[in-house]
Amino acid sequence: MGVEIAVEGLTKSFGRQVVWEDVSLTLPAGEISVLLGPSGTGKSVFLKTLVGLLRPDRGHIWINGHDLARCGEHKLYELRRLFGVLFQDGALFGSLNLYDNVAFPLREHTRKSEAEIRRIVMEKMELVGLIGAEAKLPGEISGGMRKRAGLARALVLDPEIILFDEPDSGLDPVRTAYLNQLIVDLNAEIEATFLIVTHDINTARTVPDDIGLLFRRELVMFGPREMLLSSEEPVVRQFLNARRHGPIGMSEEKDISELEAEAVLGHDPGVLPPIPPQLMPSGGRLRRTQRPPGEWLLTNGVVPPAGSFLDEQGRNWLEEYSRLVTAERVNGVV
Ligand SMILES: Nc1ncnc2c1ncn2[C@@H]1O[C@H](COP(=O)(O)OP(=O)(O)OP(=O)(O)O)[C@@H](O)[C@H]1O
Ligand SMILES: [Mg+2]
Repeated sequence: MGVEIAVEGLTKSFGRQVVWEDVSLTLPAGEISVLLGPSGTGKSVFLKTLVGLLRPDRGHIWINGHDLARCGEHKLYELRRLFGVLFQDGALFGSLNLYDNVAFPLREHTRKSEAEIRRIVMEKMELVGLIGAEAKLPGEISGGMRKRAGLARALVLDPEIILFDEPDSGLDPVRTAYLNQLIVDLNAEIEATFLIVTHDINTARTVPDDIGLLFRRELVMFGPREMLLSSEEPVVRQFLNARRHGPIGMSEEKDISELEAEAVLGHDPGVLPPIPPQLMPSGGRLRRTQRPPGEWLLTNGVVPPAGSFLDEQGRNWLEEYSRLVTAERVNGVV
């Protein structure tokens, strides 16, 4: 089941431009984490650094006792095989049909027979709901299908870690909801460690176990979903609630005059909205790394805003969750 990635004091710059500095965080094995941040704060650069496509200036990336930031080419190649990456546009080869796109890593990195490859490709195509579309070219299908094909391809080498760069960009809200459910179900099934970069606030609020926020060249905060969703820290609050009020402006950072104008108006950032329940795997299952709702809040003596943990049907997930856990015990799953 998934591996832990421990990032320590990571710094990356291009020439004299520092992208981010001294980033430390741990992606716990098998958990789902989300990385947020205004455009241009270096989220994609962070994913590329994690997978070893870019080398950091300083710091460490510990995986299975090896430092991916410092190891030699041979070890790097080996460590990279632990990763599946879903690039922003799916990064499919335009001249290959979906079947060949998904089969590509297997043909490139393994000596499996075509019969074995066929079995694996079809299994992953089925997982992402693309059976029947194998012969289509990337240019002939919708953006949502391309994302799912990219996901199938990221899965064929049975990765321990999956990095998703904006899996939901360009998708309509309904497709995004399906994709989020697919991601949660996938995590329940393969138990790999997931890191998702997204600009979708609903995804960020409901999918992950942990949330991190990059802003002004640093990781402002990284921690449990409930910690960030109940945080009063201005940047975190502004970002997770998609507000104009706060330190982030249209050109990433508001200038001093804008901030002063806000201060004069004495803007009240308003009350925090309710914390939504976390998206659960379908079929009443629980992920192995599932944290009970309200656990972080309770441990830290934080009272959530009124209406927290209620779903659209008005069910309270603090109660619903214990019902699920009991049912799983009865079924002998836990
Ligand atoms: N290969 C590169 N060489 C030089 N500069 C780069 C390179 N890749 C990224 N950058 C710079 O690093 C910064 C961060 O880029 P990055 O693509 O990681 O942002 P991002 O947070 O993913 O933004 P978005 O939300 O718009 O995708 C940008 O200023 C970008 O121009
Ligand atoms: Mg990006």
